Parts: sequence; C-alpha cells; structure tokens
Amino acid sequence: MDATRTCPQPAGIAPLLLDWYDRHRRDLPWRARPGEAADPYRVWLSEVMLQQTTVAAVTPRFLAWTRRWPDFASLAAADEADVMAAWAGLGYYARARNLVKAAKAVVADHGGAFPRTEAALRTLPGLGAYTAAAVAAIAFGERAVVVDANVERVVARLFAIRTPIPAARPAIRAAAETITPDARAGDFAQAMMDLGSAICTVRVPKCLLCPLQRQCRAFADGDPAALPVKARKKAKPLRHGTIFWLERDGAVLLVRRPDEGLLGGMRALPTGPWQEAPPGLAGAPVAADWAMRNASVSHGFTHFDIELSLAVAKGQAHHAAVGEWWPIDRLDEAGLPTLFAKAAQAVLRRDE
Ligand code: ADE
Ligand code: SF4
Repeated sequence: MDATRTCPQPAGIAPLLLDWYDRHRRDLPWRARPGEAADPYRVWLSEVMLQQTTVAAVTPRFLAWTRRWPDFASLAAADEADVMAAWAGLGYYARARNLVKAAKAVVADHGGAFPRTEAALRTLPGLGAYTAAAVAAIAFGERAVVVDANVERVVARLFAIRTPIPAARPAIRAAAETITPDARAGDFAQAMMDLGSAICTVRVPKCLLCPLQRQCRAFADGDPAALPVKARKKAKPLRHGTIFWLERDGAVLLVRRPDEGLLGGMRALPTGPWQEAPPGLAGAPVAADWAMRNASVSHGFTHFDIELSLAVAKGQAHHAAVGEWWPIDRLDEAGLPTLFAKAAQAVLRRDE
C-alpha cells in the first residue's frame, strides 16, 4: 500500500488550506479584512445567525441588524419584542432570547467586552461548544477546534471516516484537532467553511480544484460524495392544524401567541388546536363565513412536522375578534415566524 497516497498528512493540510484561503476567501460583512482585528460582537452574531440559515440569507439580515444594534450595549438595551421580531425566519427564537441575555451579561459582568477564552465564553447564555470555539478562534485567535456541518463533511472526507454521523462525531472532532494550526486558527476554521461551501460541496465535490486533493483519503478512495455517511433519521410525527386568515378593510387579524409553548410570545395568525387529525374550523377566532382554501403550509419543528390548512373569511365586521388589525401591505414588518409568513404568502398569492 502506498502510505503517502492513502494517509492524510495532518501537518501539511493547514498551510495549504490557509494559502488557498488567502487567495479565495469570501468577503463577508462580519469578517475582518486581512491584517485588521475582527469585531467580537459581529463574529458572535454572525455565528449564531449562521447556525440554521445560509450565508446568502444571513447577509442582508446581518447588515440590517447591525445597523439597528451595532454593539453589545445597544443590544442589551433593546426591547425584547423588537429583537424577537427581527429574528423571524432565522431559526429557534431561544437563540434570539439568548443573544439579548448574553449582551446584558457582557455589559453587566464583563465591562462591555467579551471574555477572550473559549472556557470563559462558555459561561455566557447561549454560547455552546460550537459558538464559543468559533468566537475564540475567529475573534481572538485562540487555538480552538471549530466543527460545523461544512467542517464535518470536509474532515470526514479528508480522513475517509466511514462511521455514520452522529456516531462519527468524536472521531471527526479528534481528526479536526490534528489538523488545526496553532496560529491563524480562526482563518483556518473559516477556510474549512469556505472550502466546504465552494469546493467540497455536498453532492458533487470539485476535487479537481481542491487544494487538499493530494491529502484527501476519500479522493484517493474514489468516493468522496458518499461521505459523510448519515444515520437514517427516525420519521417525525405529523400533526395537523388550521390557520385562520380574517380580513377586513385591507387589514388582517394578528394575535400574540401564549408565552409558554411553541413560538411563545410571537405575533402570529390565529390557529386552532394542533393534533393528529385535521381539526377543520375548531378553534376559529370568531364565528364567520369561513372558507377552507385548497392549499396548505408545511413546517418542520424539532419534534414533529405540521401541516396547516388555511381558512379565510373576509369583509365582515367581526367586532368580537381579539387581536391587532394589521395592514396587509405592511405585513412584512410584523416579524411573523416563517410558518405564518408562508401562510400569508399562500393566501395573498391566490388573491392576486
Ligand atoms: N458558517 C458559519 N460560520 C461561518 C463563517 N464565519 N464564515 C462562513 N460561513 C460560516
Ligand atoms: Fe473534498 Fe475532494 Fe477536496 Fe477531498 S479532494 S477535501 S473530497 S473537495
């Protein structure tokens, strides 16, 4: 067996990748320019936003957010309802709540600046292993091992780790550890992410353009696209519900969801019960001349998927309805969670 061909050479990977990064790095609004110091607030915010959303979708949201709340102090002083509305579409609302909590802790307990080590960062609300490592490496240059889904894929391929994820995670982390350099750990982490996004892509990796091709065991084995192997997911239960669109004089009825429970405290369209069988008009906000639309909205939550039918009633007085009448032409300012924004689009598309 040819050992140089089939074994990755951990020592050689970082310099090759950093050299590639210096030529091909993406210019992203939270990244410092070469030679400049990164802003820890922007690094942290971007890492939290990027956990469930793509770079393309995050970029405009990041710019709008940092214009409104440019630093820890402004975010610590922000109205929580405004922050939650600004988070709509970016994933779990617990992350946005923790952003405010962490900003308050930074102002109250750390003199307005982040602590600089991975261990100290982990004491802040919402800073789990991934975010603390990413901020320590990217904002402070600490040698931290940063493993997101892109890095996981690249490492599984470089080392031809064939155990299914999630069981492979400890082995992937250990392998990532062996290639993380002492210097420029933040650039190295972002280089791995950029490589994963541009070259070592999920379905058809562009190995011929890859700076690590000669170091890559999956390339040598001829099957990079087969890695990483994923364990089959258990099917989630499916629930059903109805979303009620009550419209009058160019406005639609919005309610605030109860603080406890899914999407707690968020502005929303009224819904009835979420249950195993479609509930029809049960739980309608008022008695009205409801018409079920021949359309539905699907959404995946952590523990179940939901399919929601749409019921529409228009033009009647409905003085009994409890909630806010929100102008339909300004609905994008309501900060509706994705599920309800999708429902509104489905209704409005049909009305065009
Ligand atoms: N995904 C998560 N963090 C990232 C970063 N800093 N740059 C590019 N993609 C990312
Ligand atoms: Fe990914 Fe191919 Fe590069 Fe290996 S050679 S790291 S599989 S792009």
